[in-house]
Amino acid sequence: KSKSIAIAIDGPAAAGKSTVAKLVANKLSFIYIDTGAMYRALTKKALDEKINLDDEQSLVELLKQTEINLKQNEKGQMVCINGNDATLQIRMQDVTNNVSYVAKHPLIREEMVNRQQKLAEKRSVVMDGRDIGTHVLPHAEVKIFLVASAEERAKRRHKENLQKGFPSNIEKLKAEIERRDSIDTKREIAPLVKADDAVEINTTTLTIDDVANRILKIAEQKLQL
Ligand code: CDP
Ligand code: CDP
Repeated sequence: KSKSIAIAIDGPAAAGKSTVAKLVANKLSFIYIDTGAMYRALTKKALDEKINLDDEQSLVELLKQTEINLKQNEKGQMVCINGNDATLQIRMQDVTNNVSYVAKHPLIREEMVNRQQKLAEKRSVVMDGRDIGTHVLPHAEVKIFLVASAEERAKRRHKENLQKGFPSNIEKLKAEIERRDSIDTKREIAPLVKADDAVEINTTTLTIDDVANRILKIAEQKLQL
C-alpha cells in the first residue's frame, strides 16, 4: 500500500551489523541486503582471476561481467556469483584482507551503489554496510551507526572462527580489523563515517537481542508501525 521504507545500518567491521540487520529485517518482514557481500564477491572473483587490485579499469571490466545475487533462505543468506554459490568462499581470509583495496575505487563504488539502490527501489529493506546512510540511501527513514571496541570485535570474530573450526588468533584478528577500518575510514570516496542523522549504538556490552530491540524501538517510533 504505502511506499517502501529503508533502514540503513553502518559501522566498522564486526560491530554486529549483519547479525542484527537480519533480525530486524525478519521481524519487520523487510528484505535484508548485505552490501559488504557484494564487495566481497567482486574481490573473490578478482583474486581468482589474478587481477591486480590497484588496476581500477580491469576491476570495472570484471564487475560488468559479474552478476552478484543475494538470496535469503532458511539458513540465512546465500551469495551467488554468476549463478554459482560463493557464500562460504567470500568469507575466507584472503578475501577479507583484500576487500578494502577493491572497495576504495570510485568507479567500483559507483556501480555497486547503483545496484544497491535498485535493490531498495521497490521493497522495504534493511541494508548494512559502510556508506548506506551517507551515500546509498541518504533518505533512509532510519539510520543506525553501530560501534564496539576493537578488542570486543576481535573477540567476536575469534569465537566465530573457533565455532567453525578455523584456526584463529585474537591479536592478529584485532590488527586486521583495525587495518581494514583504517582503509575504509580514510578512503576518498564514501568513507566509513556516521551520517549526521544516524543514531549511534555502542554494542560493546550489549547482547544481539539488546541491539536488535533498540533498533526496532527506534524504527517503531520513526515509522509509527
Ligand atoms: O562483515 P565485515 O564487517 O567483516 O565486512 P563487510 O560488511 O562484509 O564488508 C567488507 C568490506 O567491504 C569493508 O571492509 C569495506 O571495505 C567494504 N564495504 C564498503 O566499502 N562499503 C559498503 N557499503 C560495504 C562494505
Ligand atoms: O556485520 P558485522 O561485521 O558488523 O558483524 P556481525 O558479523 O554481525 O557480528 C560479528 C559477531 O559478533 C557475530 O558472531 C555476532 O554473533 C557477534 N555479536 C555479538 O556477540 N554481540 C552483539 N551485540 C552483536 C554481534
